[in-house]
Order: sequence, then structure tokens, then C-alpha cells
Amino acid sequence: MSGVLRERPLLRTSDLSKHYHVGRSILPAQRRTVQAVDTVSLDIWPGETLGIVGESGCGKSTLGRCLVRLTDITSGSLEFEGRDITDASQRQLRPLRRQMQMVFQDPSASLNPRRRVGDLLADPFRIHERLSASEMTDRVAELLRRVELSPEHASRYPHEFSGGQRQRIGIARALALRPRLIVADEPVSALDVSIQAQIVNLLADLREEFNLTYVFIAHDLSVVRQISTRVAVMYLGSVVESGPTDLVFAAPRHHYTAALRSAVPIPSIDRARRERLVLKGDLPSPMNPPSGCRFHTRCPAATSTCRNERPLLQSTGDGRLVACHHPGGG
Ligand SMILES: Nc1ncnc2c1ncn2[C@@H]1O[C@H](COP(=O)(O)OP(=O)(O)OP(=O)(O)O)[C@@H](O)[C@H]1O
Ligand code: SF4
Ligand SMILES: [Mg+2]
Repeated sequence: MSGVLRERPLLRTSDLSKHYHVGRSILPAQRRTVQAVDTVSLDIWPGETLGIVGESGCGKSTLGRCLVRLTDITSGSLEFEGRDITDASQRQLRPLRRQMQMVFQDPSASLNPRRRVGDLLADPFRIHERLSASEMTDRVAELLRRVELSPEHASRYPHEFSGGQRQRIGIARALALRPRLIVADEPVSALDVSIQAQIVNLLADLREEFNLTYVFIAHDLSVVRQISTRVAVMYLGSVVESGPTDLVFAAPRHHYTAALRSAVPIPSIDRARRERLVLKGDLPSPMNPPSGCRFHTRCPAATSTCRNERPLLQSTGDGRLVACHHPGGG
């Protein structure tokens, strides 16, 4: 992308892990650990949209919540503009909250049904800025216009809007304080396909207008492909392949990416190259992930090395990183 500053990532994770402890037993044998996110190292560059894809339960939402420090990090580190915020307290995070916002799949969950949309959108200004009542009304009207709603909508309640309009309100709220980064977790997954395209286009327009950086989480590859400049593919808590979106989807090197892609029709990819790979076996539990390469139980190319040694993410020399002992030809 033109205009993208390459000197320093906006956000950087190094070996970031988030493990949940489940089961309250005092017997250690009955306490289990879910390795929801495991040793993820990612750089997110200003102005880019990094898509995060992978099957349900692979840790996408958990990673998204870690990135904006909505949850604590178990190990590894997180930097925002070079500043280590891995262990920052809520008070230390407060000024950063303006800069990092999240948009969720179901905006209704965060829109109090008993309050008018104008009040809901004014909340960020009340918390972070001192504005007069008329300035607040102007800012809310401006926000509504930015997401292609009408300023008159401020007096309505959330239930008076369609799903797509409610997502526009969720986006307006995230935009209110002019953040640098928006982590959007499945923002269009609950919407009809025709509405999905409108919201994706709106997000793309807003990115240009406000110079935003996005992390766009979705299980639908075709949606991710429309908006992402780069993509990271996750499997059982870890990134297995990342790189420029077109390259990763057109010529995957990791066998999991290839399987994921073959399950969805992407029209621009030549049919002959898209022979359907059916993943064998079930997704293993993140409480008890396989040894070596976590994908070895389902991989058509697995060898004994794969069963014993965990592959590291390595550059393939064409702008992407792949964690595989025997990468596919691409
Ligand atoms: N609060 C929690 N306590 C315990 N386990 C959790 C918690 N939140 C998530 N998990 C587990 O962590 C793993 C990753 O979950 P996560 O929601 O991040 O996946 P996801 O990729 O977003 O899935 P989906 O596509 O269904 O949204 C799953 O095994 C999930 O059950
Ligand atoms: S490391 Fe081995 S098991 Fe894992 S994806 Fe590569 S070939 Fe398959
Ligand atoms: Mg999720």
C-alpha cells in the first residue's frame, strides 16, 4: 500500500500466549489449561489491514482481545508504537484505549436497549473529552453521517435498527475518539451477504479517510480477502502462515492454509489449482494439542519429523512466513 510507514509496527506481539485455566479442582491432575493463543509473533503495520482466519476455536477472538489488552496476557509481550504494554495497568492503559478500539460481531450486546443511540454514541466523549451539550450533539451527528446513517437516528433506540445499521452504530462508537487501530472481530458474520459487502466497503472507506489500521478477524475467507492487505492463518492457537493476502490464498505454502482455501470457492483462483482437500480427523482440543506440528494429525504430508519437532515460522523469501517442515509448492 502506498503511504504506509514501514519504520515501526503500530503493534507488535512477541511469543504472545494466552492460556486459560479451567476446572477449579485442588488436585493438579484435574486442573486443565486451554492454550487458546500460543506463542504468536506478529507485526501490525500502520495503514494495513491484517486479516486473521482459522477454524472456530483456533484463538482468533482471544488474540484480538489480547491485542487491545481487553484481557491479560499469560506470557510473551505486546508493544504499541514501541512501548511495552504487556503488563500495563488499567490506569496506564486508559490513554491508549482511545487509540485501540474493538468492533464485535454482535453490536447489540454492547448497546444498552434502554438508551437512545445519540446517548450511546456520546458516551466516549463524556468519558474522555469535555464538550458542551451542543458540541456533543454535533459530534454525534457527524459520527452518524460518517457511517452513512442520518443524524435524526440519534433519537431512536437500538431495536429500531436493522442488523446492518446496528453494526454501523457499533463502528461509529469505535470511531468516536479517532483511534489508530480497530480490531474487528467477525464484524459481518451475522449479516446477510448483501449487507456484509456494504459494511466491508464502509470499513474500507473509513480506513482511507481516517488513516486507520485494522485487524479483521473472520472465518469467511472471501470476506477477509476483500479487505485485508495481509493475512495470518491460525491453527490451534498459533499462526501457521502469514503474508500478502493474494499470495497466501493464491498459492498457500502451509498445508492447513491449502485445506482451508480449498473449502471455500474463491472465484479468481483457477479451478484446476483448487482441488478440494478434505481435512481428515477432528480438530484436536487446545487442552491437549498434538506434539510437534499441531497440524500433523490432519496433514496429508506429515512425517515423523512433524510428529516430534514443532516447526518455527520462517521466511520463505517471498514476503511471507510459514511454519512447516515440508511446505507445499505454492
Ligand atoms: N474465557 C475462557 N475460558 C476458557 N476457555 C476459553 C475462554 N475463552 C475462550 N476459550 C477457549 O479458547 C479457545 C479459543 O477460543 P476463541 O474464542 O479465541 O476462538 P475463535 O477462533 O475466536 O473461535 P470462533 O471462530 O468460534 O469465534 C477455545 O478452545 C475456547 O473454548
Ligand atoms: S510441519 Fe509437517 S504436519 Fe505440519 S503442516 Fe508441515 S508437513 Fe504438515
Ligand atoms: Mg471468535
